Amino acid sequence: AYTAEPFVPDGADLTALRRAAAGCRGCPLHRAATRTVFGAGSADARVMLVGEQPGDQEDRQGKPFVGPAGKLLDRALAEAGLDPAEAYVTNAVKHFKFTRAAPGKRRIHKAPSLREMTACGPWLAAELALVEPELIVVLGATAGKALLGPAFRVGEVRGTVLEREIHGRPERLVPTVHPSSVLRADDREQAYQGLVADLGVAVQALG
Ligand code: URA
Ligand code: SF4
Repeated sequence: AYTAEPFVPDGADLTALRRAAAGCRGCPLHRAATRTVFGAGSADARVMLVGEQPGDQEDRQGKPFVGPAGKLLDRALAEAGLDPAEAYVTNAVKHFKFTRAAPGKRRIHKAPSLREMTACGPWLAAELALVEPELIVVLGATAGKALLGPAFRVGEVRGTVLEREIHGRPERLVPTVHPSSVLRADDREQAYQGLVADLGVAVQALG
């Protein structure tokens, strides 16, 4: 089976983990992508935000949530009362998965498979063990499936505080929609306000 496990060093801090992740070949996604996009933020962060996978801009720049979805997320976080700079931000899958309509054309995001999410899980587990966030904000279906299992449905649990054991640790999680889904929504303003409201639940839960 595909797995990042043999690439994850024991006893590493975030810097050492990030360095090791740069060489991960735990699944085929490293082949077409430019680089590993590891999580960013302080090991002292109280909140961890988990997205799906890096997009085109993230793949180019090597940092999570720096493209259009990230800009929208930062705005929604600030509006909900959470300083984006104080959160640890990462993704369920750390390489960009894409197709091209034709050679040399724009790269089009493709959702990662369950196998790829499972393969990449050891990196997320290592980040959780080091950061020990007080709360995890689950951004969309892929992050939800990666953390809570394949039966996860964002519409059923968004904006609520869940208590679950994740990778052997008791965690509190607040799921919400993925910021990219706000960009695609027919009524963007309503979708955006829904995201801000869910993030508000996370702020309340932090106290
Ligand atoms: N979408 C994600 O899920 N993660 C990113 O880092 C960027 C876009
Ligand atoms: Fe490793 Fe994850 Fe990249 Fe696959 S997606 S190669 S498991 S870092």
